[in-house]
Amino acid sequence: MENIVIQGGTPLKGSVEISGAKNAALPLLAAAILADEPVILHRIPHLNDISTMTNLLAWQGAEVTYDDQNCLHIDTRPANKPEAPYDMVKTMRASSLVLGPLLVRFGEAKVSLPGGCAIGARPIDMHLKGLEIMGAEIEVEHGMVIAKAPKGLHGGRIVFDMVTVTGTENLMMAATLAKGETVLENAAREPEVVNLADALRSMGAQIEGDGTACITIQGVDRLAGGDIYTISDRIEAATYLAAGLMTGGDVTVTNTDPHLLEAFLARVKEAGATVETGDDYIRCIANGRLQAVNIHTMPHPGFPTDIQAQFMAMMCVAEGTSLISETIFENRFMHVQELVRMGADIQLDGHTAAVKGVARLSGAPVMATDLRASASLVMAGVAAEGETVISRVYHIDRGYERIEEKMRSLGANIERHYVQK
Ligand code: EPU
Repeated sequence: MENIVIQGGTPLKGSVEISGAKNAALPLLAAAILADEPVILHRIPHLNDISTMTNLLAWQGAEVTYDDQNCLHIDTRPANKPEAPYDMVKTMRASSLVLGPLLVRFGEAKVSLPGGCAIGARPIDMHLKGLEIMGAEIEVEHGMVIAKAPKGLHGGRIVFDMVTVTGTENLMMAATLAKGETVLENAAREPEVVNLADALRSMGAQIEGDGTACITIQGVDRLAGGDIYTISDRIEAATYLAAGLMTGGDVTVTNTDPHLLEAFLARVKEAGATVETGDDYIRCIANGRLQAVNIHTMPHPGFPTDIQAQFMAMMCVAEGTSLISETIFENRFMHVQELVRMGADIQLDGHTAAVKGVARLSGAPVMATDLRASASLVMAGVAAEGETVISRVYHIDRGYERIEEKMRSLGANIERHYVQK
Protein backbone atom coordinates (compact mmCIF):
# COMPACT_ATOMS: atom_id res chain seq x y z
CA MET A 1 0.00 0.00 0.00
CA GLU A 2 1.19 3.52 -0.71
CA ASN A 3 0.38 6.83 0.94
CA ILE A 4 1.22 10.37 -0.05
CA VAL A 5 2.51 12.38 2.90
CA ILE A 6 2.56 16.17 2.69
CA GLN A 7 3.88 18.81 5.10
CA GLY A 8 1.85 21.79 3.96
CA GLY A 9 1.97 25.52 4.20
CA THR A 10 4.64 26.54 1.65
CA PRO A 11 3.56 28.77 -1.27
CA LEU A 12 4.27 27.02 -4.57
CA LYS A 13 6.60 28.89 -6.89
CA GLY A 14 8.30 28.07 -10.17
CA SER A 15 7.49 26.34 -13.39
CA VAL A 16 6.42 22.83 -14.28
CA GLU A 17 6.21 21.05 -17.64
CA ILE A 18 2.85 19.56 -18.54
CA SER A 19 2.53 16.01 -19.92
CA GLY A 20 0.48 14.75 -22.86
CA ALA A 21 -3.22 14.48 -22.06
CA LYS A 22 -4.48 11.15 -20.75
CA ASN A 23 -7.95 11.71 -22.17
CA ALA A 24 -6.52 12.54 -25.59
CA ALA A 25 -4.02 9.66 -25.56
CA LEU A 26 -6.58 6.95 -24.73
CA PRO A 27 -8.71 7.43 -27.88
CA LEU A 28 -5.52 7.79 -29.96
CA LEU A 29 -4.44 4.34 -28.75
CA ALA A 30 -7.84 2.95 -29.73
CA ALA A 31 -7.52 4.63 -33.15
CA ALA A 32 -4.40 2.53 -33.81
CA ILE A 33 -6.80 -0.42 -34.30
CA LEU A 34 -8.08 1.29 -37.47
CA ALA A 35 -4.68 1.64 -39.15
CA ASP A 36 -3.32 -0.99 -41.50
CA GLU A 37 0.22 0.25 -40.81
CA PRO A 38 2.17 0.93 -37.62
CA VAL A 39 1.47 4.20 -35.80
CA ILE A 40 3.80 6.17 -33.58
CA LEU A 41 2.04 8.08 -30.83
CA HIS A 42 4.09 10.97 -29.45
CA ARG A 43 3.94 12.52 -25.97
CA ILE A 44 2.17 9.63 -24.27
CA PRO A 45 2.22 10.04 -20.48
CA HIS A 46 3.33 7.18 -18.23
CA LEU A 47 0.10 6.51 -16.38
CA ASN A 48 -1.79 3.49 -15.15
CA ASP A 49 -4.73 4.18 -17.47
CA ILE A 50 -2.37 4.19 -20.46
CA SER A 51 -0.88 0.84 -19.32
CA THR A 52 -4.39 -0.60 -19.05
CA MET A 53 -5.04 0.38 -22.67
CA THR A 54 -1.65 -0.85 -23.97
CA ASN A 55 -2.18 -4.16 -22.11
CA LEU A 56 -5.58 -4.47 -23.75
CA LEU A 57 -4.16 -3.86 -27.25
CA ALA A 58 -1.32 -6.33 -26.57
CA TRP A 59 -3.83 -8.89 -25.27
CA GLN A 60 -5.72 -8.50 -28.56
CA GLY A 61 -2.47 -9.40 -30.37
CA ALA A 62 -1.05 -5.99 -31.26
CA GLU A 63 2.66 -5.19 -30.94
CA VAL A 64 3.10 -2.32 -28.52
CA THR A 65 6.40 -0.79 -27.39
CA TYR A 66 7.31 2.39 -25.50
CA ASP A 67 10.55 4.08 -26.47
CA ASP A 68 12.52 6.38 -24.18
CA GLN A 69 11.05 9.51 -25.81
CA ASN A 70 7.52 9.01 -24.42
CA CYS A 71 6.48 7.55 -27.79
CA LEU A 72 4.36 4.45 -28.18
CA HIS A 73 4.89 2.32 -31.29
CA ILE A 74 1.76 0.32 -32.07
CA ASP A 75 1.23 -2.19 -34.84
CA THR A 76 -2.25 -3.68 -34.65
CA ARG A 77 -1.90 -5.75 -37.85
CA PRO A 78 -1.23 -9.00 -35.90
CA ALA A 79 -4.28 -8.38 -33.66
CA ASN A 80 -6.84 -11.16 -33.94
CA LYS A 81 -9.00 -10.97 -30.80
CA PRO A 82 -11.69 -8.27 -31.19
CA GLU A 83 -12.53 -8.37 -27.51
CA ALA A 84 -12.16 -6.40 -24.29
CA PRO A 85 -12.63 -8.58 -21.20
CA TYR A 86 -14.27 -7.45 -17.96
CA ASP A 87 -11.03 -7.38 -15.97
CA MET A 88 -9.62 -4.69 -18.25
CA VAL A 89 -12.79 -2.64 -18.75
CA LYS A 90 -13.75 -2.63 -15.08
CA THR A 91 -10.52 -0.86 -14.08
CA MET A 92 -10.91 1.74 -16.80
CA ARG A 93 -14.18 2.64 -18.51
CA ALA A 94 -12.34 4.24 -21.43
CA SER A 95 -11.48 0.68 -22.56
CA SER A 96 -14.91 0.75 -24.18
CA LEU A 97 -13.35 3.13 -26.75
CA VAL A 98 -12.12 0.04 -28.59
CA LEU A 99 -15.70 -1.03 -29.41
CA GLY A 100 -16.21 1.14 -32.52
CA PRO A 101 -12.74 0.53 -34.00
CA LEU A 102 -12.87 -3.27 -33.39
CA LEU A 103 -16.35 -3.58 -34.87
CA VAL A 104 -15.58 -1.68 -38.05
CA ARG A 105 -12.27 -3.49 -38.55
CA PHE A 106 -13.28 -7.07 -37.69
CA GLY A 107 -17.05 -7.01 -38.34
CA GLU A 108 -17.56 -8.13 -34.75
CA ALA A 109 -16.57 -7.14 -31.24
CA LYS A 110 -17.13 -8.42 -27.72
CA VAL A 111 -16.57 -5.74 -25.13
CA SER A 112 -17.49 -5.97 -21.48
CA LEU A 113 -20.12 -3.51 -20.29
CA PRO A 114 -18.47 -1.18 -17.78
CA GLY A 115 -20.04 -1.36 -14.34
CA GLY A 116 -20.93 1.62 -12.16
CA CYS A 117 -18.23 4.09 -11.33
CA ALA A 118 -17.37 6.16 -8.27
CA ILE A 119 -18.45 9.44 -9.89
CA GLY A 120 -21.71 8.27 -11.47
CA ALA A 121 -23.56 5.52 -13.33
CA ARG A 122 -21.88 6.38 -16.64
CA PRO A 123 -23.79 4.11 -19.04
CA ILE A 124 -22.65 3.65 -22.68
CA ASP A 125 -26.15 3.41 -24.16
CA MET A 126 -25.53 6.27 -26.61
CA HIS A 127 -22.40 4.52 -27.99
CA LEU A 128 -24.50 1.41 -28.62
CA LYS A 129 -27.49 3.25 -30.12
CA GLY A 130 -25.17 5.07 -32.53
CA LEU A 131 -23.53 1.84 -33.69
CA GLU A 132 -27.00 0.32 -34.24
CA ILE A 133 -27.94 3.27 -36.45
CA MET A 134 -24.76 2.47 -38.40
CA GLY A 135 -25.98 -1.08 -39.00
CA ALA A 136 -24.57 -3.04 -36.06
CA GLU A 137 -26.56 -5.81 -34.39
CA ILE A 138 -25.98 -5.52 -30.68
CA GLU A 139 -26.90 -7.80 -27.82
CA VAL A 140 -25.90 -7.60 -24.22
CA GLU A 141 -25.37 -11.03 -22.69
CA HIS A 142 -23.70 -11.97 -19.41
CA GLY A 143 -22.41 -8.42 -19.02
CA MET A 144 -20.77 -8.42 -22.47
CA VAL A 145 -21.72 -6.21 -25.41
CA ILE A 146 -21.75 -8.53 -28.41
CA ALA A 147 -21.75 -6.43 -31.57
CA LYS A 148 -21.87 -7.76 -35.12
CA ALA A 149 -21.68 -6.06 -38.49
CA PRO A 150 -20.72 -8.85 -40.90
CA LYS A 151 -21.36 -6.62 -43.93
CA GLY A 152 -19.52 -3.70 -42.38
CA LEU A 153 -20.97 -0.49 -40.94
CA HIS A 154 -22.70 2.19 -42.96
CA GLY A 155 -23.12 5.91 -42.35
CA GLY A 156 -26.09 7.43 -40.59
CA ARG A 157 -27.36 10.49 -38.73
CA ILE A 158 -26.84 10.25 -35.00
CA VAL A 159 -28.21 12.83 -32.60
CA PHE A 160 -26.81 12.41 -29.10
CA ASP A 161 -29.36 12.88 -26.29
CA MET A 162 -26.63 14.48 -24.21
CA VAL A 163 -23.05 15.42 -24.93
CA THR A 164 -20.74 12.44 -24.52
CA VAL A 165 -16.99 12.72 -25.05
CA THR A 166 -16.01 9.07 -25.48
CA GLY A 167 -19.35 8.39 -27.24
CA THR A 168 -18.46 11.00 -29.87
CA GLU A 169 -14.94 9.55 -30.16
CA ASN A 170 -16.13 5.95 -30.44
CA LEU A 171 -18.62 6.71 -33.22
CA MET A 172 -16.26 9.08 -35.05
CA MET A 173 -13.65 6.30 -35.18
CA ALA A 174 -16.19 3.72 -36.40
CA ALA A 175 -17.47 6.15 -39.05
CA THR A 176 -14.03 6.65 -40.63
CA LEU A 177 -14.17 3.16 -42.17
CA ALA A 178 -17.98 2.87 -42.55
CA LYS A 179 -19.59 3.13 -46.00
CA GLY A 180 -20.92 6.59 -46.80
CA GLU A 181 -21.56 9.64 -44.68
CA THR A 182 -22.07 9.80 -40.92
CA VAL A 183 -23.31 12.94 -39.22
CA LEU A 184 -22.88 13.28 -35.45
CA GLU A 185 -25.13 15.94 -33.95
CA ASN A 186 -24.90 17.37 -30.43
CA ALA A 187 -21.34 16.03 -30.59
CA ALA A 188 -18.74 16.77 -27.91
CA ARG A 189 -16.51 19.77 -28.71
CA GLU A 190 -13.70 18.92 -26.28
CA PRO A 191 -10.11 19.56 -27.46
CA GLU A 192 -9.46 15.81 -27.08
CA VAL A 193 -12.12 15.13 -29.75
CA VAL A 194 -10.38 17.62 -32.08
CA ASN A 195 -7.02 15.96 -31.36
CA LEU A 196 -8.49 12.60 -32.35
CA ALA A 197 -10.04 14.07 -35.53
CA ASP A 198 -6.67 15.63 -36.46
CA ALA A 199 -4.96 12.27 -35.94
CA LEU A 200 -7.54 10.37 -37.98
CA ARG A 201 -7.26 12.96 -40.79
CA SER A 202 -3.47 12.51 -40.81
CA MET A 203 -4.18 8.78 -41.30
CA GLY A 204 -6.42 9.51 -44.32
CA ALA A 205 -9.89 9.94 -42.75
CA GLN A 206 -12.31 12.54 -44.06
CA ILE A 207 -13.75 14.46 -41.12
CA GLU A 208 -15.20 17.95 -40.92
CA GLY A 209 -16.78 19.99 -38.15
CA ASP A 210 -14.80 18.66 -35.16
CA GLY A 211 -14.73 21.32 -32.47
CA THR A 212 -18.38 22.13 -33.30
CA ALA A 213 -21.54 20.28 -32.28
CA CYS A 214 -21.94 18.73 -35.75
CA ILE A 215 -19.23 16.42 -37.10
CA THR A 216 -19.46 14.92 -40.59
CA ILE A 217 -17.41 11.91 -41.57
CA GLN A 218 -17.14 10.41 -45.08
CA GLY A 219 -16.06 6.79 -44.82
CA VAL A 220 -12.83 5.75 -46.59
CA ASP A 221 -11.49 2.28 -47.51
CA ARG A 222 -8.40 2.29 -45.33
CA LEU A 223 -6.43 4.32 -42.83
CA ALA A 224 -2.64 4.55 -42.90
CA GLY A 225 -0.25 4.74 -39.95
CA GLY A 226 2.28 7.46 -39.23
CA ASP A 227 3.16 9.93 -36.52
CA ILE A 228 0.44 11.18 -34.21
CA TYR A 229 0.81 13.91 -31.60
CA THR A 230 -1.01 14.17 -28.26
CA ILE A 231 -2.15 17.56 -26.98
CA SER A 232 -1.10 18.94 -23.61
CA ASP A 233 -3.06 17.82 -20.56
CA ARG A 234 -5.31 20.80 -19.75
CA ILE A 235 -6.56 19.18 -16.53
CA GLU A 236 -3.04 18.59 -15.24
CA ALA A 237 -2.12 22.20 -16.11
CA ALA A 238 -5.16 23.56 -14.26
CA THR A 239 -4.33 21.39 -11.23
CA TYR A 240 -0.82 22.89 -10.80
CA LEU A 241 -2.07 26.42 -11.46
CA ALA A 242 -4.87 26.05 -8.93
CA ALA A 243 -2.46 24.51 -6.39
CA GLY A 244 -0.15 27.50 -6.82
CA LEU A 245 -2.99 29.98 -6.32
CA MET A 246 -4.36 28.14 -3.33
CA THR A 247 -1.01 28.48 -1.55
CA GLY A 248 -0.71 32.18 -2.43
CA GLY A 249 2.04 31.30 -4.91
CA ASP A 250 3.19 31.98 -8.46
CA VAL A 251 3.20 28.97 -10.82
CA THR A 252 3.92 28.74 -14.54
CA VAL A 253 2.92 25.68 -16.57
CA THR A 254 4.89 25.11 -19.78
CA ASN A 255 4.49 23.04 -22.95
CA THR A 256 0.79 23.77 -22.90
CA ASP A 257 -1.76 25.93 -24.74
CA PRO A 258 -3.77 28.64 -22.95
CA HIS A 259 -6.66 28.20 -25.43
CA LEU A 260 -7.34 24.80 -23.84
CA LEU A 261 -8.23 26.41 -20.51
CA GLU A 262 -10.26 29.52 -21.31
CA ALA A 263 -13.22 28.83 -18.97
CA PHE A 264 -10.89 28.00 -16.07
CA LEU A 265 -8.64 31.02 -16.61
CA ALA A 266 -11.65 33.35 -16.81
CA ARG A 267 -12.77 32.18 -13.35
CA VAL A 268 -9.25 32.48 -11.97
CA LYS A 269 -9.10 36.11 -13.12
CA GLU A 270 -12.53 36.72 -11.62
CA ALA A 271 -11.13 35.39 -8.33
CA GLY A 272 -8.54 38.15 -8.41
CA ALA A 273 -5.41 36.35 -9.63
CA THR A 274 -3.11 37.65 -12.35
CA VAL A 275 -2.95 35.44 -15.44
CA GLU A 276 -0.16 35.79 -18.00
CA THR A 277 -0.13 33.67 -21.12
CA GLY A 278 2.19 33.04 -24.07
CA ASP A 279 1.91 30.61 -27.00
CA ASP A 280 2.88 27.65 -24.86
CA TYR A 281 2.76 28.72 -21.23
CA ILE A 282 0.39 30.00 -18.56
CA ARG A 283 1.45 31.82 -15.39
CA CYS A 284 -0.95 32.44 -12.51
CA ILE A 285 0.02 34.73 -9.66
CA ALA A 286 -1.99 35.06 -6.46
CA ASN A 287 -2.59 38.64 -5.33
CA GLY A 288 -3.34 38.00 -1.67
CA ARG A 289 -6.39 35.92 -0.78
CA LEU A 290 -8.60 34.78 -3.69
CA GLN A 291 -12.21 35.95 -3.87
CA ALA A 292 -15.04 33.40 -3.99
CA VAL A 293 -16.33 32.66 -7.51
CA ASN A 294 -19.26 30.47 -8.59
CA ILE A 295 -18.83 27.68 -11.15
CA HIS A 296 -21.19 25.43 -13.03
CA THR A 297 -19.66 22.45 -14.84
CA MET A 298 -20.66 22.07 -18.50
CA PRO A 299 -19.40 20.30 -21.62
CA HIS A 300 -16.64 22.18 -23.48
CA PRO A 301 -16.32 25.16 -23.89
CA GLY A 302 -17.98 25.36 -20.45
CA PHE A 303 -16.18 24.80 -17.16
CA PRO A 304 -14.78 21.21 -17.16
CA THR A 305 -16.11 18.72 -14.63
CA ASP A 306 -12.55 17.35 -14.43
CA ILE A 307 -11.44 20.59 -12.71
CA GLN A 308 -14.42 20.91 -10.38
CA ALA A 309 -12.77 19.20 -7.39
CA GLN A 310 -9.54 21.20 -7.78
CA PHE A 311 -11.45 24.48 -8.07
CA MET A 312 -13.42 23.58 -4.97
CA ALA A 313 -10.20 22.97 -3.03
CA MET A 314 -9.05 26.44 -4.07
CA MET A 315 -12.35 28.01 -3.03
CA CYS A 316 -12.06 26.39 0.44
CA VAL A 317 -9.57 29.14 1.37
CA ALA A 318 -11.05 32.01 -0.68
CA GLU A 319 -12.82 35.01 0.81
CA GLY A 320 -16.61 34.63 0.68
CA THR A 321 -18.93 31.82 -0.38
CA SER A 322 -18.64 30.03 -3.69
CA LEU A 323 -21.47 27.98 -5.24
CA ILE A 324 -20.19 25.00 -7.19
CA SER A 325 -22.72 23.09 -9.33
CA GLU A 326 -21.88 19.75 -10.92
CA THR A 327 -24.10 19.07 -13.93
CA ILE A 328 -22.22 16.26 -15.72
CA PHE A 329 -21.89 13.48 -13.14
CA GLU A 330 -24.36 12.73 -10.38
CA ASN A 331 -21.86 11.70 -7.71
CA ARG A 332 -18.78 13.82 -8.20
CA PHE A 333 -18.62 15.35 -4.75
CA MET A 334 -16.83 12.65 -2.82
CA HIS A 335 -13.94 14.98 -2.08
CA VAL A 336 -16.32 17.20 -0.06
CA GLN A 337 -16.27 15.13 3.12
CA GLU A 338 -12.49 14.71 2.91
CA LEU A 339 -11.99 18.47 2.50
CA VAL A 340 -14.33 19.01 5.47
CA ARG A 341 -12.00 16.74 7.51
CA MET A 342 -9.27 19.25 6.70
CA GLY A 343 -11.31 22.15 8.09
CA ALA A 344 -13.26 23.24 4.99
CA ASP A 345 -16.75 24.66 5.45
CA ILE A 346 -18.90 23.07 2.72
CA GLN A 347 -22.66 22.49 2.63
CA LEU A 348 -23.95 20.09 0.01
CA ASP A 349 -27.41 20.45 -1.45
CA GLY A 350 -28.03 18.04 -4.30
CA HIS A 351 -25.86 19.03 -7.24
CA THR A 352 -24.59 22.20 -5.62
CA ALA A 353 -21.95 22.73 -2.96
CA ALA A 354 -21.77 26.00 -1.04
CA VAL A 355 -18.13 26.52 -0.08
CA LYS A 356 -17.54 29.16 2.59
CA GLY A 357 -13.88 30.06 2.56
CA VAL A 358 -11.84 29.61 5.74
CA ALA A 359 -8.56 31.31 6.56
CA ARG A 360 -6.58 28.07 6.55
CA LEU A 361 -7.03 24.31 6.15
CA SER A 362 -5.39 21.93 8.59
CA GLY A 363 -3.62 18.73 7.59
CA ALA A 364 -5.38 15.42 8.31
CA PRO A 365 -5.45 11.79 7.19
CA VAL A 366 -7.77 11.62 4.15
CA MET A 367 -8.74 9.09 1.53
CA ALA A 368 -8.61 9.46 -2.25
CA THR A 369 -11.86 8.35 -3.85
CA ASP A 370 -11.39 9.05 -7.55
CA LEU A 371 -8.79 10.61 -9.80
CA ARG A 372 -9.69 14.30 -9.67
CA ALA A 373 -10.83 14.10 -6.03
CA SER A 374 -7.32 12.84 -5.20
CA ALA A 375 -5.78 15.82 -6.96
CA SER A 376 -7.92 18.19 -4.88
CA LEU A 377 -6.67 16.49 -1.71
CA VAL A 378 -3.03 16.82 -2.76
CA MET A 379 -3.66 20.54 -3.38
CA ALA A 380 -5.41 20.93 -0.04
CA GLY A 381 -2.55 19.09 1.69
CA VAL A 382 0.06 21.35 0.11
CA ALA A 383 -1.84 24.45 1.24
CA ALA A 384 -2.81 23.22 4.72
CA GLU A 385 -1.01 23.74 7.99
CA GLY A 386 0.67 20.54 9.22
CA GLU A 387 0.71 17.00 7.90
CA THR A 388 -1.74 15.40 5.47
CA VAL A 389 -1.61 11.69 4.70
CA ILE A 390 -3.54 10.59 1.62
CA SER A 391 -4.35 6.91 1.26
CA ARG A 392 -5.60 4.98 -1.80
CA VAL A 393 -3.25 6.95 -4.01
CA TYR A 394 -3.61 4.45 -6.87
CA HIS A 395 -6.42 6.73 -8.06
CA ILE A 396 -3.95 9.52 -8.66
CA ASP A 397 -1.51 7.33 -10.59
CA ARG A 398 -4.23 6.78 -13.18
CA GLY A 399 -3.99 10.36 -14.38
CA TYR A 400 -1.06 12.39 -12.97
CA GLU A 401 2.45 11.66 -14.19
CA ARG A 402 5.15 11.99 -11.46
CA ILE A 403 2.96 14.22 -9.31
CA GLU A 404 5.23 14.23 -6.24
CA GLU A 405 8.29 15.11 -8.35
CA LYS A 406 6.42 17.91 -10.14
CA MET A 407 4.95 19.29 -6.89
CA ARG A 408 8.40 19.11 -5.24
CA SER A 409 9.90 21.11 -8.12
CA LEU A 410 7.47 23.90 -7.13
CA GLY A 411 8.61 23.76 -3.51
CA ALA A 412 6.05 21.38 -1.98
CA ASN A 413 7.13 19.04 0.79
CA ILE A 414 5.54 15.82 -0.50
CA GLU A 415 6.63 12.20 -0.44
CA ARG A 416 5.28 8.78 -1.21
CA HIS A 417 5.51 6.25 1.58
CA TYR A 418 5.26 2.52 1.09
CA VAL A 419 3.31 1.04 3.94
CA GLN A 420 3.02 -2.66 4.73
CA LYS A 421 -0.61 -3.76 5.01
N1 EPU B 1 -23.74 9.30 -20.65
C1 EPU B 1 -24.89 8.55 -20.83
N2 EPU B 1 -24.90 7.61 -21.81
C2 EPU B 1 -23.83 7.38 -22.63
C3 EPU B 1 -22.66 8.15 -22.42
C4 EPU B 1 -22.65 9.10 -21.43
O1 EPU B 1 -25.88 8.74 -20.12
O2 EPU B 1 -23.91 6.52 -23.52
C5 EPU B 1 -23.73 10.34 -19.60
C6 EPU B 1 -22.71 10.06 -18.49
O3 EPU B 1 -23.23 9.20 -17.51
C7 EPU B 1 -22.44 11.46 -17.97
C8 EPU B 1 -22.52 12.33 -19.25
O4 EPU B 1 -23.26 11.55 -20.19
O5 EPU B 1 -23.43 11.85 -17.08
C9 EPU B 1 -21.20 12.73 -19.87
O6 EPU B 1 -20.35 11.59 -19.92
P1 EPU B 1 -19.28 11.38 -21.06
O7 EPU B 1 -19.69 10.24 -21.90
O8 EPU B 1 -18.99 12.67 -21.74
O9 EPU B 1 -18.03 10.96 -20.20
P2 EPU B 1 -16.90 9.97 -20.69
O10 EPU B 1 -16.73 10.11 -22.14
O11 EPU B 1 -17.13 8.63 -20.11
C10 EPU B 1 -14.89 11.63 -20.53
C11 EPU B 1 -13.60 11.70 -19.78
C12 EPU B 1 -13.91 11.99 -18.29
C13 EPU B 1 -14.66 13.33 -18.24
C14 EPU B 1 -15.92 13.26 -19.08
C15 EPU B 1 -16.69 14.57 -19.16
C16 EPU B 1 -12.17 10.23 -21.02
C17 EPU B 1 -11.43 8.97 -21.08
N3 EPU B 1 -12.88 10.45 -19.91
O12 EPU B 1 -15.64 10.56 -19.95
O13 EPU B 1 -12.67 12.10 -17.64
O14 EPU B 1 -14.99 13.62 -16.91
O15 EPU B 1 -15.58 12.88 -20.44
O16 EPU B 1 -15.88 15.57 -19.66
O17 EPU B 1 -12.09 11.05 -21.92
C18 EPU B 1 -11.21 12.05 -15.77
O18 EPU B 1 -10.26 12.20 -16.55
O19 EPU B 1 -11.08 12.15 -14.52
C19 EPU B 1 -12.53 11.73 -16.32
C20 EPU B 1 -13.49 11.16 -15.58
